[in-house]
Amino acid sequence: TPEKLIVRGSVNIDEFFVVDHIVRSGETISSTDYSRRAGGKGANQAVAAAKAGAEVDFAGLVGNDGGWLRDTLGGYGVGTSLLGADETLPTGRAVIQLSSSTADNSIVLLPGANFSQISPLHDLTSAQLSTYSHILLQNEIPLQETKGALRRAKSAGLTTLFNPSPMPSRQALTEFEWQHLDWLVINEGEGADLLAALADPTATESSGGAAALLGALRRTALGSLTGIIMTRGADGVVSSLRDGSVVEVGPGKVVGGVKDTTGAGDCFTGYFATLLSTLPRSPDFALTPAKLRDVLAIASQAAAICVESPGAMESVPTLAAVKERMGDGWKEGME
Ligand code: RIB
Ligand code: NA
Repeated sequence: TPEKLIVRGSVNIDEFFVVDHIVRSGETISSTDYSRRAGGKGANQAVAAAKAGAEVDFAGLVGNDGGWLRDTLGGYGVGTSLLGADETLPTGRAVIQLSSSTADNSIVLLPGANFSQISPLHDLTSAQLSTYSHILLQNEIPLQETKGALRRAKSAGLTTLFNPSPMPSRQALTEFEWQHLDWLVINEGEGADLLAALADPTATESSGGAAALLGALRRTALGSLTGIIMTRGADGVVSSLRDGSVVEVGPGKVVGGVKDTTGAGDCFTGYFATLLSTLPRSPDFALTPAKLRDVLAIASQAAAICVESPGAMESVPTLAAVKERMGDGWKEGME
């Protein structure tokens, strides 16, 4: 089967307020700039996958005020046949404060139609599901829906990826069905939370940095995963494969300073899923640490370019732009 991604996740209307600093409790401040953009972790990751060259369908739900998002996603080359609408709910919203002094952000989410009772995968048969090679999920939809999607996708033979952002509750994590998951993409804070939720309480706390944290995660229910990818912002990415090998790459190069980190993680994850999908899936293909390093380096450079300009999906670069930026660091055969 050809490589084809399905992203099941959220789509939001992002309301960006540029502020001098993130508002403090009890304080009222004025915004110096405002913009309304398409966003949501699922939609952002689907757009990143499309810009990275994937054939990708996005499965999600807009509300009664989000019809225009279908055109936006379609315009980026994302398939929208599995994008439904729940007319009884508003489209998901993200109210984003972006600090012009530090480039930090702060986000308040309204789940809206992302938490509809309707499942956009409900009418998809197993045969239809198995026309995809990979499924990618985040955590801005009900966790029950995510669990169901992973279970169904795994039994239909797809490679499964999950980016549990924003982080689920500890209780939810202890009940997660990790056996249906192949790849986990987390940041360092999420990794620490996950360890706290999953670790044998008698296990000693991990204090040896990112690689040690990954090792500790491997000794939990996550031991069976094909790979765990941990992003560390300006410190790069560290990952581990099932055989225990650890692969680290430095951060991508940012030109002209960090303007807006919103969606950079989504850019990384959409790129990662796409590059992974282009590797052979035959049982005799071994994903070597060197191969994984190339994939992570490209995804990291894409995310670094994403922070150079405002917005989430708008600032995701094309694969050609990433290649150009990497120059000699680009490895042929990675497309
Ligand atoms: O990851 C960035 C996204 O998080 C934004 O687009 C916003 O919608 C929030 O969900
Ligand atoms: Na950006």
